[in-house]
Amino acid sequence: MAEATAPAAPPAGGAGLRDVVALPSSITSIENGVLSYRGINIDELADNASFEEVIHLLWHERLPTQHELETMRGQLAANADLPQGLIDVMKSFPRRTTPMEGLRTAVSALAMFDAESEDMSDAANQRKAIRLQGQMASIVAAYERIRNDREPIPPRPELSLAANFLYMLRGILPDPLSVRALDKAFTLHADHELNASTFCARVAAATLTDMHSAVTAAICALKGPLHGGANEQVMKMLNEIGHTDRVESYIRNKLQNKEKVMGFGHAVYKDGDPRAKHLREMSRQLGKLTSQENWYKMSVMIEELVTGAKGLKPNVDFYSASVYHYLNISSDLFTPIFAISRCSGWLAHVLEQYANNKLIRPRAEYVGPVDQHYVAIEKR
Ligand code: COA
Repeated sequence: MAEATAPAAPPAGGAGLRDVVALPSSITSIENGVLSYRGINIDELADNASFEEVIHLLWHERLPTQHELETMRGQLAANADLPQGLIDVMKSFPRRTTPMEGLRTAVSALAMFDAESEDMSDAANQRKAIRLQGQMASIVAAYERIRNDREPIPPRPELSLAANFLYMLRGILPDPLSVRALDKAFTLHADHELNASTFCARVAAATLTDMHSAVTAAICALKGPLHGGANEQVMKMLNEIGHTDRVESYIRNKLQNKEKVMGFGHAVYKDGDPRAKHLREMSRQLGKLTSQENWYKMSVMIEELVTGAKGLKPNVDFYSASVYHYLNISSDLFTPIFAISRCSGWLAHVLEQYANNKLIRPRAEYVGPVDQHYVAIEKR
């Protein structure tokens, strides 16, 4: 059989569908390097909004009133409980199951415990969105406890999503600064137009599959090191370097070997990711507060070296690594935390897709051999 020939030129629209506009959306825009949710600049939201306000904005097209905000916060907390059957499933995972693998399988399994999972009415989908958003945080916290031989802790109805997550993780009420830092990180990661995981969610939703399936598809895409997995890799790199003295040789070596430095570069932003500066500032503040400035200082040195040598700027994943580390969160929870936040964006896109659906079915540019014939097996 003849080998498939390599493509002579990138397919129409460029490799990786760069700059291809796949569908209309009124959720998030990236224009001239400015990121906005429903037309509001991310800088304003990062400085002023709570994550629950952002969820309302993404799902309902506008910021909530005080009453709507309280209702949403209450509903998220009240629906964040996990069915005991799901906890039993998680307890049966092999010990080596990573938190991201656990999340992927638990969200898929959650559908089987949700009486409305196959109800595609708008009202049921709105209810499922609330449940899924709250339960994502509960799953990540519960599995972290299970793998450390501790019992999961149920959510408290009076807490925000960020506070509840930290509470369910540790079993003690979190301090306000940690809650504010995590809440802000949630806002910054909430949505990002047609990134790989969101596109996956929309492709799945466009087949009119159920919401849990669409979110499971998105988690699978987020898991990869070129997408949500990058923040964990950044922490791995910081741990490998260990000290500011070793930053320069480590990074120069990596660049010389043409290895990628995780947390740098972006498929859309060529002049810097607008979210990175907020996380950088958070990392600086938390470093000072915890008297562990090493992680922040190493990160700044890496930024100077990579930007100086390659012109590449840090993306959202770079400083989020040291921020989560300062919050005393283990590095294999970084991507699941990204998933908790991005779930709000996935759900907004799934709801938008359902509301005006068209099956997503692009074409491939065929670059293989032509005019081949079947050859009998004994003659091959
Ligand atoms: N470190 C070192 N070099 C990098 C780099 C990085 N993080 N990101 C891109 N480059 C280089 C590539 O090696 C390539 O160089 P070459 O032209 O000499 O071969 C060039 O920049 C273009 O890279 P490419 O991967 O094609 O860019 P892209 O815009 O398609 O990819 C990413 C964007 C995000 C996939 C890419 O920058 C990357 O892999 N970054 C690291 C992973 C990461 O942080 N992901 C999170 C994204 S939010």
